[in-house]
Amino acid sequence: MKINIISLFDLLDTYDEKEVEIKLSTFLCVKNLSVQNFLHKNSIPYEKSGTARTFLLVNEQKSIIGYYSLALNTISIGDSQLSHSMEHKIRGVGNSFADHIPGFLIGQLARHDECEKADLDGSNILNYAIDQLTEIHNKIGGRFILIHCIDDLLAFYNQNGFIKVGRKNKLNIMIKLF
Ligand SMILES: CC(C)(COP(=O)(O)OP(=O)(O)OC[C@H]1O[C@@H](n2cnc3c(N)ncnc32)[C@H](O)[C@@H]1OP(=O)(O)O)[C@@H](O)C(=O)NCCC(=O)NCCS
Repeated sequence: MKINIISLFDLLDTYDEKEVEIKLSTFLCVKNLSVQNFLHKNSIPYEKSGTARTFLLVNEQKSIIGYYSLALNTISIGDSQLSHSMEHKIRGVGNSFADHIPGFLIGQLARHDECEKADLDGSNILNYAIDQLTEIHNKIGGRFILIHCIDDLLAFYNQNGFIKVGRKNKLNIMIKLF
């Protein structure tokens, strides 16, 4: 299946906002309604304010079959949940005295309910997001990719190279270092 990645930023630049909203409302994810609602209600305001950038995975029929959102992020080194060795790894070189270490957040990631896993595996979506962040990382640096995930998805992120570094508000904090 041929998949195109379309940035919401470009869509808003090309089409009327109302038209874009209608297109976004076709994305369904009852497994995680907050992920569905983010795309329906928050993605456009976040895009306009630069809080996050959303990317749509679109098939040949131009249906949205998945999406992810990316943002800048920092890890606070004062966070007591980090082990000493993890703190050291996250700092890397030249950040010895920094309180906050810069990196990236994958804020949202989902497949449309009606899209088969065989057509778009979660790891594929994640890899699109990681590839894009790697390109940005190659240009401007950054130390990590961070995600917050529910317990049911711990194994999924582990298999894709993320390690758990903490827990907050019933979500696991997981990172992948560059
Ligand atoms: C995240 C996602 C893209 C991963 O896709 P995938 O690698 O193809 O994996 P699956 O969809 O088979 O999910 C893996 C397991 O997690 C479970 N799972 C996935 N999302 C879940 C959710 N929101 N709540 C509870 N369980 C969930 C699945 O039921 C599956 O369990 P199983 O192995 O016992 O069958 C996809 O599951 C999805 O779109 N989930 C809903 C959106 C979501 O929760 N996003 C949060 C990302 S942090």
